[in-house]
Amino acid sequence: MKKFSVVVAGGGSTFTPGIVLMLLANQHRFPLRAIKFYDNDGARQETIAEACKILLQEQAPEIEFSYTTHPQTAFSDVDFVMAHIRVGKYPMREKDEKIPLRHGVVGQETCGPGGIAYGMRSIGGVLEIADYMAKYSPNAWMLNYSNPAAIVAEATRRLRPQAKILNICDMPIGIEGRMAQIAGLQDRKEMRTRYYGLNHFGWWTAVEDLAGNDLMPKIREHVAKCGYIPPTKQQTTEASWNDTFAKAKDVWALDPDTLPNTYLKYYLFPDYVVQHANPQHTRANEVMEHREKQVFGSCNAIIQAGKSSAGELEIDEHASYIVDLAAAIAFNTQERMLLIVPNNGAINNFDPEAMVEIPCLVGSNGPEPLVVGNIPQFQKGLMSQQVAVEKLVVDAWEQRSYQKLWQAITLSKTVPSASVAKAILDDLIAANKDYWPELR
Ligand code: NAD
Ligand code: G6P
Ligand code: MN
Repeated sequence: MKKFSVVVAGGGSTFTPGIVLMLLANQHRFPLRAIKFYDNDGARQETIAEACKILLQEQAPEIEFSYTTHPQTAFSDVDFVMAHIRVGKYPMREKDEKIPLRHGVVGQETCGPGGIAYGMRSIGGVLEIADYMAKYSPNAWMLNYSNPAAIVAEATRRLRPQAKILNICDMPIGIEGRMAQIAGLQDRKEMRTRYYGLNHFGWWTAVEDLAGNDLMPKIREHVAKCGYIPPTKQQTTEASWNDTFAKAKDVWALDPDTLPNTYLKYYLFPDYVVQHANPQHTRANEVMEHREKQVFGSCNAIIQAGKSSAGELEIDEHASYIVDLAAAIAFNTQERMLLIVPNNGAINNFDPEAMVEIPCLVGSNGPEPLVVGNIPQFQKGLMSQQVAVEKLVVDAWEQRSYQKLWQAITLSKTVPSASVAKAILDDLIAANKDYWPELR
């Protein structure tokens, strides 16, 4: 079996150790000859990398491992770039969440003005990585899960149309895991689903078992009562995520024929979200206090002791969808996966140039989207508005346009008026002066 060389871009990410452990657990179907980490923050990456080095020496000394901040070293001789960068890191995420909240508007990582601000930072960072890949390993594929994936995907579609980039999200995978539990199955792969929408903005229209039995009635009955909280509650879910999975109950009620993505709550119940937010302590604070502390604490303990048993790094089992995707390309598996791709007629009554999240068959030539057909007025209206927001953000970035960005924020369903949009925008500009292009 061929062995592959992978670079993880955003090597300093809190998700990197979990992904490395997941890659190790999947050597039978996606064997590696080399793993490299790349990050533009050498100090942050070093902690994660030195711990992973110990782990790799213990479990797979045959895999060549290195880490660097030097693009040529990182991106030369790689088959896949797995990208999960966060331009501006958690301190900027905190601002994305807190600034809109100061104006009574949803403050969220990828939705509303916060997601737009993050998009304005991410576009340049993701394009830079795509360009390093094109320069140093032109045959490689970039598997991108850097957020905000919808805006990043629109930017790469428009600005790097030839680049071999696949954008993917784990939210539908997480929700499908819960659906499987609700339906009494062991694994989401025992289900066949139909789904359409935008990233963090979509609906399931069918869920069947592999024999073709309709699982929607059973799941629907459960979601109507408990949202996506499975019958045997998962201990590991944090309170804030638990609320989001529970709130899916109200999101579902708007269109009982379908099953919704959790993120729709930010667009359909923004008032509820704001009322339940603490403007002084948002998700970014939770992540810094918990996940970031835990991962870096464990890595430091491992480095000090020189053995992986000194820390508590957990395998990110659910991230194995990344291996599904890499293996689909590497071995032409034609696996059916949800990807963020140009619509190009798949949703018949929707903008062909929108980036949509739909099922695709994935093989060595990339994704082949499946036909969705016509979608109902409710979804079409919501998606048209949201796609316009995402396109206007990319317009704004490309043209350095204040006007376009004001329009984008105004058009977001999370924002009540153009004046509120302007006030938020002006605060975001001041906060992002080190990251955004200067607007005129
Ligand atoms: P993190 O801040 O811990 O890690 C991000 C890393 O990226 C940092 O080490 C940072 O230094 C690095 N970085 C920032 N800008 C860079 C650049 N221009 N070049 C190279 N490296 C750069 O963040 P995290 O919480 O671990 O999340 C990482 C990313 O993964 C985020 O974009 C997050 O939104 C995304 N994510 C996506 C999904 C999905 O469903 N698509 C799921 C989980 C996380
Ligand atoms: C889900 C989404 C990601 C998002 C993440 C945030 O997994 O699909 O796109 O980045 O949630 O999680 P966090 O724990 O960082 O708030
Ligand atoms: Mn996502």
